[in-house]
Amino acid sequence: MRIQHHPILGPMSQKPVVTFVFDDQPCEGRLGEPIAAALYAAGHKIHRYTQREHKPRGIFCMIGKCTDCVMVVNGVPNVRTCITALEAGMDVRTQDGSVAKRGFQ
Ligand code: FES
Repeated sequence: MRIQHHPILGPMSQKPVVTFVFDDQPCEGRLGEPIAAALYAAGHKIHRYTQREHKPRGIFCMIGKCTDCVMVVNGVPNVRTCITALEAGMDVRTQDGSVAKRGFQ
């Protein structure tokens, strides 16, 4: 599920694999890639639930404009994961309205 050779950008560089936590489960991604890309590559497509109707949302624009990808990252809500670089050990949580679906510890 990860792009290896982009038709415009060419071959993607192979950054080191790092581990982070997604909703209390260990997950892997490439250092510096968008958090949203790492989650998509791992098969996770729901990033948040809407505040009023609790409908699932995931990546849409991938350029930081739509807010559908916001999640709670290291305890901070409303982080646009499509434009936030992945770091080792990050705590990434599905957002429910304006808070984490599961508590940040
Ligand atoms: S996918 Fe639109 S802001 Fe991240």
